[in-house]
Amino acid sequence: MIGKKNNTLYIDGCNAVKLAQEYGTPLYVYSESDIVGKCREIRECFLNKYPNTRAAYASKAFSSLAMYKIIEREGLCLDVVSGGELYTAIKANFPAEKIEFNGNNKLFSEIELAVDYGIGRIIVDGLNELDLIEQVCKRKKKKINILYRITPEVESDSHDYIVTGKKDSKFGIPLDEDVISYHIEKAIQSEYVNFLGFHFHVGSQLHDNTSHLAALETSLKLVEQCKKQYNYTIKELNVGGGFGIRYNDEDHKKPYPYFLEPIMARIEEFSQQIGIERPAVVIEPGRSIVGEAGTTLHTIGSIKNIKGIRKYVSIDGGMTDNIRPALYQAKYEGIMANKMGDSKTEKVTICGKCCESGDILIKDINIAHPEPGDIFAIFSTGAYGYSMASNYNKNNIPAVVLVNKGKDYLIVKRQTYDDMIRNELIPDSLK
Ligand code: LLP
Repeated sequence: MIGKKNNTLYIDGCNAVKLAQEYGTPLYVYSESDIVGKCREIRECFLNKYPNTRAAYASKAFSSLAMYKIIEREGLCLDVVSGGELYTAIKANFPAEKIEFNGNNKLFSEIELAVDYGIGRIIVDGLNELDLIEQVCKRKKKKINILYRITPEVESDSHDYIVTGKKDSKFGIPLDEDVISYHIEKAIQSEYVNFLGFHFHVGSQLHDNTSHLAALETSLKLVEQCKKQYNYTIKELNVGGGFGIRYNDEDHKKPYPYFLEPIMARIEEFSQQIGIERPAVVIEPGRSIVGEAGTTLHTIGSIKNIKGIRKYVSIDGGMTDNIRPALYQAKYEGIMANKMGDSKTEKVTICGKCCESGDILIKDINIAHPEPGDIFAIFSTGAYGYSMASNYNKNNIPAVVLVNKGKDYLIVKRQTYDDMIRNELIPDSLK
């Protein structure tokens, strides 16, 4: 919820410049109203529209205690991918049965944690993992629900690093017939797991459903195989996340997903054809829930004009709080939060303070005349910004503030220098 008052940026009713003064910069600001709006959108276009469906927020996009509280209050489930995310969810009192656990190499200790907490589902990525789960469940005399993540062998229109459904992928179980059949038989026969169905995730930041629909066909064939070959009815299909958001003007021209109607229609039709009840359908949106709700505030410092070439405007963060431009050449929009009314603009390049030439956040953007001390806001940084932040160059991880209709709440404190060296030790030999 971006607004403007007295030439100043407002986020969900809060003055961005005041937030920067109060909490310091860099600062991640999340609009609670926007997050809630996205959750409600999912309810309207999916959960309320189709019975027996769930949406599990892919919390790798932004994981924190407060975020998990919002997700719980909004009635969504949660997808975690590590012991750390699971631990955070449990500490937020997130209902364990509404948690599902993804990941291509879950550790024994993570599986133990998941079984101990009694989480809702483990999305199994291969036979080795099934063995680990069986060992843990046997020892703890427990049984757990599982789905198999398959590699659907589809291409997707996104950056290569965030495409996950190709045949040549570290994610999922390869589709070779004997391999997948062996997996299915093992799961059906296992005393320790309750085999519910199949999962795929084709990629991220997608603006159409071509690859979801292609992957769905592959999953449906497996549903049919289970029925015909083993007389086993699949109860759940998870079609992953990947719904794209708007980062810049170019994205605004693309259709805005959720593109679930054709997916649901196809599953209904297929279930009728093979004579089974339509399985539960689950989606795992991450970016689309938090991406556009997040804005990062920075203070401008050094400004260098390289005559005839470019003006570098340095901010007090960079790739340490947003690695996406350096890693995926991601494009962002930004604005001078304290000079919104200025009609005279100039073309500059916004760069970070890390010792890397690639630490450029926005190349060639038109902004109001920049001066040291100005507050620069970058939009749509809510997904995979804070969650991929690093201590490179020993910069500290910024604070996170939640704003809602004019009120602000600190939800993650700024990391201190002491926090950064807390786990460091000097061996006696160096004292
Ligand atoms: N489910 C699974 C199994 C996933 O691997 C992912 C994302 C999601 C759901 C959520 O996808 P989303 O709805 O957020 O697109 N760091 C990258 C994105 C990596 C996504 C990894 N998996 C970026 O900043 O673009």
